[in-house]
Formats: sequence, C-alpha cells, structure tokens
Amino acid sequence: MRIAFFDTHAFDREAFTVANARFGFDLTFFEARLTAATAALASGFPVVCPFVNDRLDADALQTLHAGGVRLIALRSAGYNHVDLAAAADLALPVVRVPEYSPHAVAEHAVALLLALNRKIPRAANRVRDANFSLDGLVGFDLYGRTVGIVGTGRIGVVMATIMLGFGCRVVAFDMAKRQELIDRGVSYVNLTDLYRVSDVISLHVPLTPKTHHLIDAAALQSMKRGVMIINTGRGALIDTPALVEALKQGQVGAAGLDVYEEEEGLFFRDLSDQVLQDDVLARLLTFPNVLITAHQAFLTQEALANIAQTTLESVRAFEQGRVMTNLVPFDGHAAHSS
Ligand code: NAI
Repeated sequence: MRIAFFDTHAFDREAFTVANARFGFDLTFFEARLTAATAALASGFPVVCPFVNDRLDADALQTLHAGGVRLIALRSAGYNHVDLAAAADLALPVVRVPEYSPHAVAEHAVALLLALNRKIPRAANRVRDANFSLDGLVGFDLYGRTVGIVGTGRIGVVMATIMLGFGCRVVAFDMAKRQELIDRGVSYVNLTDLYRVSDVISLHVPLTPKTHHLIDAAALQSMKRGVMIINTGRGALIDTPALVEALKQGQVGAAGLDVYEEEEGLFFRDLSDQVLQDDVLARLLTFPNVLITAHQAFLTQEALANIAQTTLESVRAFEQGRVMTNLVPFDGHAAHSS
C-alpha cells in the first residue's frame, strides 16, 4: 500500500520509518504542505497522510479523490483542517489519532507556565551575557494559586492532575464533568466564574464553531487583572488582536502560546532569513511576558511513536477491509475539530 505523507519533517519521517518496519508499506515523504495546489502530487497513492497545517478543503479533496486517494489518514488528533462535508460527499473516509500522549501536551503547557512565571528565557539570556541582575525576574508561588482548566478531556485531565500536584486550587469548565477530578478536589464552574477566579487559565478544548474566539475582548476584560493564559489547544480559541490589546493594558499578565490562529504557512518552517509579514505575530513577539512555541506540544518521542503506530494500524485496517476504529465522525455539519 502506497502512502503519501505531506508537510513532513525529519522527526516524523524517522518515527514513521521505524514504525513501518512492522507494516512494510511503501512510504513517500513530501515536504510540501497539502493544499489544492499540491494535491496532485498524491496521484496514484491510495492513502494520504496530512499534518495539522495542511488544508483539506473541497478543491484539495476533489483532486485527491480524482488521483485515486481512498483514505485520508491524519497524523494528528485535530481535524479542524478537513472539510468533512466534502470528504463525505466523495465517500472519502478520514481517520485520525485521537490519543497519542496527553502527557506530552499537558507537560508542554506546564513548561510554558513555569518558564513564563519564573522568566526563564529572559534569565537565561541575561546570564549568558554575564548579566547576573535579578531585577524584573520576580515570579509567584504556584502553590495556593487558582488554575482554571477549560476542557477536561484527555489532555485537560492530565493538566489538572499536574496542577493539583503543585498544590494549586483547580477549577474547571467542560460540558462533561469528570467524577475522578471532582473526587480529587477539582470544582466545575461556569466560564464566567472560571475567568473571575483564575490566576492561570489553560485551554484544552477543541476548536469548533462554539469555541472559536472563546477568549475574546469581553472574556479578557472579565478575567483577574494580571492573569496568565496558556494555549496549547488551537490558535483560534483566542481572538489574538484582543489578546494583544489586553497585554498592552496589563489586563493579561502573561501569555504562553503553542498555537496561533494564523500559524498555517508559518509554523514548522525556518523563516529566519525573511521579514515576518504577520504584524499581529510580530507585535506578540515584542512582549517580554509572551512566550511562543511553534505548535510543538505534541513533540515527544513517545507521542511520535504512538502517532506512527496508530496511523499505520488504521491504514492496515483499511487495506484489509476491517472496521477503522479511529474514523472521524461526520454528523452533517461543516467545520468540525478534534
Ligand atoms: P478531548 O476530546 O479528549 O477533550 C476535549 C474536551 O473538551 C472534552 O472533555 C469536551 O467535552 C470538551 N469540550 C468540547 N467542546 C466544548 C465546549 N464547547 N465547551 C466546553 N467543553 C468542550 O481532546 P484532547 O485530546 O484533550 O485535546 C484537546 C485539544 O488539544 C485538541 O482538540 C487539539 O486541538 C489540541 N491539541 C494540541 C496539540 C499541540 O501539539 N499543541 C496536540 C494535541 C491536541
């Protein structure tokens, strides 16, 4: 079975090559992002394997289908980049990797939180320059602080558990309450109360029409002054220009972002020899209290191995005509997420 991978990098080529020793598929790795313009590259491949910033709109899907593609095997949990209605019209099944390491993502959220709070990037840069001054590096004890977790699914529950370990008070918002968290002292509250009481807010809901710009200007103004916001979910959970404004006012005290709503075409690339054209991102990068990583929360050895294994298992099930357990459900509405 031939599989065409798009938007590939050394780390996923390596993980898939290792996992494929157990499957023996014919893997072709393209560096190009999958879009309507590049979809023809997959002509003759029954399976394509896209990544999070590929764009599988109706045009791209039609080109893939016309070229003989019969399975879309996403190597991600999120699927907000696929037009599921168009895929359903073409009878193109879409599978994903619903869980590969919630620990990888939650631990990265904690890394952003701690690095921001204790100003580690600034401190390390100073010391490297033989500047041993501590001015401007004051953080706060996490112990006893209130952390608001928005979304207590696979990743949110790990995040809540880690924060409980720090001795934080944890409040949470989710449509579905987890008894295991309530038993450990987590209080489920509505969003308004979560915003009002939290010193740190961490986002772990999928991007859907309902959660798009969940954190907008009004939400930001309803938060505690100086709140820290951590986003390892999806960029468009936050209205970024509104966040910039709230940072300028001091209403938001710090922001740790692994995702950005306009990251497509930017993240995963070395653009260091170019002039950054995105003015909102450029402004964000000027704040001393903003820490941005380029969608790397998933990037651990364990997660990469699990992603490769689960993806290739789905392809094997497809090849053998068995039920594919990781099918993305299509319920008839467009614009879904993971
Ligand atoms: P999950 O599906 O296990 O949990 C999501 C939770 O959000 C569920 O408990 C659900 O009830 C809740 N939820 C959904 N819509 C909601 C709404 N409108 N209001 C309140 N609660 C709502 O997902 P998981 O695995 O925890 O992942 C969360 C998100 O993290 C993914 O959707 C993905 O976008 C993002 N992610 C980011 C990665 C990164 O590298 N930065 C890697 C993996 C996931």
